[in-house]
Amino acid sequence: MTEQGSDFTADYHIDCTKPLVDEKLRMAWQKIVDMLADVINVPAALVMQVHPTTIEVFSTSNSGSANPYEQGESTKLGSGLYCETVLRSQAPLLVTNALTDPDWNHNPDLELGMIFYYGVPLLWPDGTAFGTLCILDCQERQLANWAQNLIHILQKNIESGLKILYMQQQTLQTTLQLNQALESTIMALVSALACRDPYTAQHQTRVADLTLKIAVQLGLHHELHQGLYLGAAIHDVGKIYVPSEILNRPGKLSIPEFEIIKSHPMVGAQIVKDIKFPWPIQDLILQHHERLDGSGYPYGLAGDDILLEARILSVADVVEAMSSHRPYRSALGLDAALDVVRSGRGILYDADVVDACLLLFEQQQYRNDWDSKIYADQRYQ
Ligand SMILES: [Fe+2]
Repeated sequence: MTEQGSDFTADYHIDCTKPLVDEKLRMAWQKIVDMLADVINVPAALVMQVHPTTIEVFSTSNSGSANPYEQGESTKLGSGLYCETVLRSQAPLLVTNALTDPDWNHNPDLELGMIFYYGVPLLWPDGTAFGTLCILDCQERQLANWAQNLIHILQKNIESGLKILYMQQQTLQTTLQLNQALESTIMALVSALACRDPYTAQHQTRVADLTLKIAVQLGLHHELHQGLYLGAAIHDVGKIYVPSEILNRPGKLSIPEFEIIKSHPMVGAQIVKDIKFPWPIQDLILQHHERLDGSGYPYGLAGDDILLEARILSVADVVEAMSSHRPYRSALGLDAALDVVRSGRGILYDADVVDACLLLFEQQQYRNDWDSKIYADQRYQ
């Protein structure tokens, strides 16, 4: 026998990971208990919610001063309440007169004058307990079949609401798991690229960090953050098909060599095209060298035809690329890089994005972090 005050999770089939009941459902249940008390003509109709150590009045009928139960009131489990038996057995319970019933003539609800009880369990779809739906009266009575049937219909109605909450939680968990799997896929691509081309790998990591920070600065909705970060983390994945001797060769590139480099957004988009991302990662890769005035590549898209995420990425890409060391040139420095995006503000680069980026680097802490990352990467070479 479990002692009073201890955890009753196992005894009453409680699962604490279940979702919270939202306000809409709470209001619907309020109407149910009000209607129940009214139609069956009892002083109290309740939805009770069970917790590991207590049971709480979740909804209570607005049936006047004869109803002694208030919303939010809790009683410790183990007190011998009617509802505890319903929860333990997961079956309906009818007590017509507790005063004459030796099993019930000491239960706590007698102190409130409630001698009649009928309750049914409320279960989540996996069989764990939410609580009970019950009616109580201060006089002995029988319960007609129609009244029992009504309570069972309302029990199913409440459990339908619980099922919707449960399914929403399951869908959310599945989505999170899928997103984690996709994130692993992307990180595998990043690792594959890092073995062959450490400069590009380091570039992508820093660009992803700056892209995300600009997005936050712009107030972009948090649901877009993960996709933006991951897209930025592989935006140059198409360079995997550019020969190393072109990627890492010091000096100016020939026109044919530059044409090969320019193919990387399309190649990158092709690499990820069959992965069903919930974010526009393919377009992000494809558009990160497009420019606001249409002078970019591969398609020469202009203005709002370029995805906002790609407009953010392109600014972060330019700042990182120009401020960092490359095999074919030394670092130009952060200030020179910021000058480049500043001079292209509203022409090549989205004005709001440039402003957000400049604002970010006005913070000494971010500037220090950025410098230390570049220093670390030069050591990494
Ligand atoms: Fe690129």
